[in-house]
Parts: sequence; C-alpha cells; structure tokens
Amino acid sequence: MTWVYINQLAEYEGKEVELRGWVYHRRSSGKIHFLVIRDGTGLCQCVIFQPEVSPEVFELADHIPLESSVIVRGKVRADKRAPGGYELGVAELEVVHQAEEYPIQPKEHGVDFLLRHRHLWLRSPRQNAIMRIRHQVIKAIRDFFDQRGFVLLDAPVFTPSACEGTTTLFEVNYFGEPAYLTQSGQLYMEAGAMALGKVYCFGPTFRAEKSKTRRHLTEFWMVEPEVAWYHLEDIMELAEDLVVYIVEQVLEQRKEELKRLERDTSPLEEVKKPFPRISYDQALKILKEKGAEIEWGKDFGGDEETLLSQHFSRPVMIHRYPAGCKAFYMARDPKNPRLALCVDMLASEGYGEIIGGGEREWDYQRLLERIEEHNLPGQAFGWYLDLRRYGSVPHSGFGLGIERTVAWLCGIHHIRETIPFPRMLERIYP
Ligand code: 4AD
Ligand code: MG
Repeated sequence: MTWVYINQLAEYEGKEVELRGWVYHRRSSGKIHFLVIRDGTGLCQCVIFQPEVSPEVFELADHIPLESSVIVRGKVRADKRAPGGYELGVAELEVVHQAEEYPIQPKEHGVDFLLRHRHLWLRSPRQNAIMRIRHQVIKAIRDFFDQRGFVLLDAPVFTPSACEGTTTLFEVNYFGEPAYLTQSGQLYMEAGAMALGKVYCFGPTFRAEKSKTRRHLTEFWMVEPEVAWYHLEDIMELAEDLVVYIVEQVLEQRKEELKRLERDTSPLEEVKKPFPRISYDQALKILKEKGAEIEWGKDFGGDEETLLSQHFSRPVMIHRYPAGCKAFYMARDPKNPRLALCVDMLASEGYGEIIGGGEREWDYQRLLERIEEHNLPGQAFGWYLDLRRYGSVPHSGFGLGIERTVAWLCGIHHIRETIPFPRMLERIYP
C-alpha cells in the first residue's frame, strides 16, 4: 500500500493508502471512533467503524493516547466537513509508539510553559503555520538574490572584532584568546563585494541583548547583501524590491497558513512599490506631532518605531540618521557630514525596523578616524582597512532580520514564536 502525506490526499480519492503520523485528537460516538491524525503536512480525520475493523483495533482506537505515533491504512473518501476535505475509512491501525500523557493540552498554557516545551509546542498547527511561513520567507530571499546574479558567500561565526558596537558582544574563549560570536557578516561581505561584485550572506547572528523586548533575540538570522558601486539610493531600491517580493511570495504560497493564523492579509496586499522615503529629520517631525519627546541625535527606540510604522500604510524607509547614533562604518552625507548615508526600513502596522543598512565609508583615512573615534582595536580591523587600500570603491548593503519579518507577515506580537528554538536573555533551554 502506498504511503502518502496528508496534503496529497486529493490525488488518491477512492484509493487505499497508508498514512504515518501522530494522534492529534480523538473522539467517539459508540460504534464509530474518530482519530484525527497529523503528519506534519496536515490533519486527516480517520474513521474507525466497528463492523469494518477487528475488535482489537476498535478497542485500541478508543484509548490510544494523544501524540502516539501510528500507521493507518484505509480508503480515501471526499468529505466536505473534514479538515482538508478528505477522510480515511480505516481498515488497519498500527501503534508504533504509545505516548505518555502529553503535557500540552487543549487549554490555555502560559507562554513560559510553552517555551519550556518548545520541542513539543512545535507540533501545534499554529507553530506549523509559522514555521512554513518562515521557510517561504527564506526561500523567497534566496530566489530573489539568485535571480539577480548574487553569489551566496558565507560569513564566519567566530570573529576577532565588533561590527555593531561593543556592548552586545558574546565573548568566547578561542584557544586562550578572546573572540566573539558574529553580530553581522557585513564586514566580510564588503570584502566579498570587492571580489565578486554582488554577494550576500545568510546565517545566524548574535547579540548579547540585555533587554527583554518583543523584538529582540540573542540569536537571530539575518540576510545581508552587499554590492560594489552601489550608493544609498541603489541599496534602498534593492531593499524595497526584496520586501515586495517576499510579501508577494508569502501571500501567494502560504494562503492556508495565513488563514490558520487568522492573519488579516489586506494590509499586506498594500505592500507595493514605491515605499515612502523620509529623512530622519522628517521622521522626527512626525514623532513630535504625535507627542513623542525625542531630541535630535538620538536613535529611534521601539516606541518611536511603532509610532512611525503605524503612520504609514506601507513599509517606510528612513534615511540619513545623525551619524553619532550609528555604526562606525557608515559613510557621511557630503551635503551634511553630521548625517550618515544610512537607511532603516520599518515594516507597516507598528512592527518597526526590519532592515538596517546604507553606504559604507570607503576612504582609508576617514575610516581609520572612525575606528579610533569609536575606540575600536585598530589591529583587528587591519584587513578591513586593507579594502580601502587596494582599489576602494563606493559600496552599500543592508541586513534584513528574518524573525522580525516573519513576525510582521504572520501578524504575531512577539518574535519568540518565529524561530524554531528562541534564544533570549533568560532562555537557552531547550
Ligand atoms: O540594524 P542592524 O544592527 O544592522 C546590521 O547589523 C548591519 N551590519 C547590517 C548590514 O548592513 N549588513 O541589524 C539589521 C537587522 C535589523 O533591522 C533587525 O531586523 C535585525 O537585524 N535585528 C534583530 N532581530 C532580532 N533580534 C535582535 N536582537 C536584532 N538585532 C537586529
Ligand atoms: Mg538597526
């Protein structure tokens, strides 16, 4: 008998098939037991009718604990009321492993409990939908860059120096010497762009974030394109195209999952080019009109981002922040050297920053001064300065955070559910 997945059942109507999965739900009405089986691709109601199975199987179906692993065989029938539109008329039921009493019950569990049982929580239909959307986001990103001739270049995870400020570094003991888990692959992508033209890395990045917010993880995944000869305007256009493509793909390929999450997709349908582009100064004006108290020179925090991102119906790109609140590698605006040629993209609906990037300082002398101003250890950046000694060119790039993007697309409040095993200030188990 053919082993099939639940999401293929439509192709097997009227045929005998085998399903392999786990017991998701069980109910009974005397002569008929209903087992809802999940196999990772969907749910299927399996109907066990007393006259059609052996007495042992009938008895088993009435008592089998939830999440026991099973193999069921029977005939596929169309049934409009069944989840997915098909059910299985069971002829045989085999228990592969009888589960102990399952800790996650169909009641409200606190989020702390669920996070401690993340290895099991992942089995729920809601988490399944989020993980499939995450998968689609990552696939869309890879396809996007592939279609545009970018080369995937992996950045190292152990690094000798900081990219995004020294306060969030995770130090590790590297054979007796201090090293750090990467905060960003950017600096390595700059070397890559000089070698290959258009590159991107995609991998885990680490920040020792001591704050507990709904937007911060200590380990998150970032995609970072870097392009030689690109200026700020070019990289903003690339960022816009990428986000439009991701949203399109998720809307097209993950309808079912978005529905399961009860995501109102109408705001996502609005995510079309062009996105509004405003300067930091203009953003500050909007914030002041909304009553926020923030002085010129400060980076925006979560609250300001929420306000700004609720102000627009599409993602908004904010460019030219005060250089003092941004990283050392940012190029300055020749028209006003107090400003950095940088851009943050804030997702719509109050979700806040999903992208940070901009044009890089490509002059040797100026970069050296920045490294000193930021009190960074010069010798760890020798290789990075070299890129400004041998055929330096203007270049730009950005980083898009996967988890924040997934949270926005799924319409979920906290990013802890958007990664299989979240790492946060007080959480490293499981
Ligand atoms: O703005 P960030 O810090 O920029 C960089 O790291 C640049 N070096 C990227 C580049 O230009 N190649 O981070 C980029 C994005 C943010 O917009 C956000 O989406 C995500 O990474 N991010 C986080 N996501 C989850 N948890 C955290 N602690 C995050 N910190 C940044
Ligand atoms: Mg940022």
